[in-house]
Amino acid sequence: MRLDNAIISTGLASRKQVRRLLRSKQITVDGQTVTKPGLIIDSHLQDIRVAGERLRTEKERYFILNKPAGVLSACVDHQHQTVLDLLQETDRVAGVYPIGRLDRDTEGLLLLTNNGPLGFRMLHPKHHVNKVYYVEVNDVLDSDAPDFFQQGVTFLDGTTCKPAKLEVLSRQKGHSKARITISEGKFHQVKKMFLAYGVKVTYLKRISFGGFILEDSLSSGTYRELTDDEIPILMTYFD
Ligand code: URA
Repeated sequence: MRLDNAIISTGLASRKQVRRLLRSKQITVDGQTVTKPGLIIDSHLQDIRVAGERLRTEKERYFILNKPAGVLSACVDHQHQTVLDLLQETDRVAGVYPIGRLDRDTEGLLLLTNNGPLGFRMLHPKHHVNKVYYVEVNDVLDSDAPDFFQQGVTFLDGTTCKPAKLEVLSRQKGHSKARITISEGKFHQVKKMFLAYGVKVTYLKRISFGGFILEDSLSSGTYRELTDDEIPILMTYFD
C-alpha cells in the first residue's frame, strides 16, 4: 500500500496534510525519515509513525492464551492442532500470530496479535524479556543448582546462555520442582539447560512473559483479549 493512502485511510490526515507532514520530515518508517508519498509500505511489517504517533491501519488485537500440551505454536499445520485453532472464528483475524514459540509438549502463556512488528520487537535480544517457567524434572536438583544456572549454562555444542534464576520448589529423588527465569529464547532452551545440569524436564509450563502473568482463571486451552490497561505495556517495546 502507498504510504499516503495508508495514512489517509486511518483518517489521521488528508492528502494535503500528508504532503505537508512529509515535507516537514514528520513521518518515519522503521525509524527512518521518509519524504515520498508513493513509498510502498506494509504497516504489519513496518513501524510507521506520523508525528511520533504509530500508524494503526486496522484494529489491532492482543490475546493472552493458556496453551495446552499437544498444540503447536504455529499458524497452520496439516497434522496437528495449532494455537490459532483455539481462537474463535471472529478472533482469527488476518495476520494474527503467536509471539514466540513454546514446544508442542510445553504448556502455558502465549501472547497472540495481528500487530506484525510487535513480535520482532518483543523478542529482540536488546529487550531481555523475562520468561518464567514452572518445571518438573526427573531427579534431584541439589543445592548447587541455582549457582549452576546463575553462572550461565553452556550446551554441548558450545552455545552459552545468559545467567538464569532458579528457585527450587521441592527436591526429591526421582522428582523435583522448580521455577526458572530466563531472558532469552533459544530453541528448547529450558530443556537443554536442565539436561546440561544432568536432569530431564518431564513437565514445562510458561507462567510469565514480559510482565504478563498467567492467571489461574485462564484454564488450559482458553484465552482472553488483553485489556486497554494492559496494551500500553506492549507499546513500550516500540520506544
Ligand atoms: N524452553 C524449552 O525447552 N521449551 C519451551 O517450550 C520453551 C522454553
